[in-house]
Amino acid sequence: MADNRPIGIYDSGMGGLTVWREVRRALPAESLVYLGDGKNCPYGSRPRAEVGRLADEAVGRLSALGCKLVVVACNTATAAAIDALRSKYADLPIVGMEPAVKPACLTTRSRVVGVLATERSLDGDLFRRTAARYGRDIEVLTVPGRGFVELVENDREHTPEAVACVGAAIRGMLERGADRIVLGCTHYPFLLDALRKAAAGCDVTFVDPSPAVARRVAELLDRFGLRAEAGRVPHYAFETFADEAYRLRLERKAWQE
Ligand code: DGL
Repeated sequence: MADNRPIGIYDSGMGGLTVWREVRRALPAESLVYLGDGKNCPYGSRPRAEVGRLADEAVGRLSALGCKLVVVACNTATAAAIDALRSKYADLPIVGMEPAVKPACLTTRSRVVGVLATERSLDGDLFRRTAARYGRDIEVLTVPGRGFVELVENDREHTPEAVACVGAAIRGMLERGADRIVLGCTHYPFLLDALRKAAAGCDVTFVDPSPAVARRVAELLDRFGLRAEAGRVPHYAFETFADEAYRLRLERKAWQE
């Protein structure tokens, strides 16, 4: 039996749209409800308890909208709240963001890996555990992406200001010889052009975990028998805790390549 209820995807703002794009590509028959908080963005330097409360409110809303599975497409909310969310919404499969430290550590040749993420994600347990597990004998350099989220939220990712901002953050990593830089915040893939320009001439690969998250969603749909009918025309909805103007911006940004 097919299950045509939507998949919910949530982030503090527009960043989770990078995950939304991958899920849409990987699962074209699935309807999606995207919830970009917008009102409380950025989460990155808010206290953990506050991020937990906001994530709870968001997942509650997606559950009330009838979602069959929820993706917390926000590393910061995942680090702060994934365990609490999974125990509160025990009947709802919830997929969180994994910092892509593992694939970066498995493929680095220079044995220097950089990680860009928000301050809150970098001081979380999830990140520390993953780095300790896969980062042995590898130098893992972490840098908070200060100002990155604001560039994306203000549609300024393709500006010289963006290249200068991301360039300042990655300079130290590149100087140490990092050949893998993990994008540990879902907003950051929007800055890939700026990152590539800032790293021009360096042999470095930026690692985005969102395709792996989309594969995990597909696995869980199969495991719980939740796939939509094959060939079905999906419906895409956009929700926010901010105003209608922000909701429309989310929708527009979702379709921007
Ligand atoms: N996009 C989010 C993340 O993956 C949060 C960014 C923010 O609100 O600071 O961490």
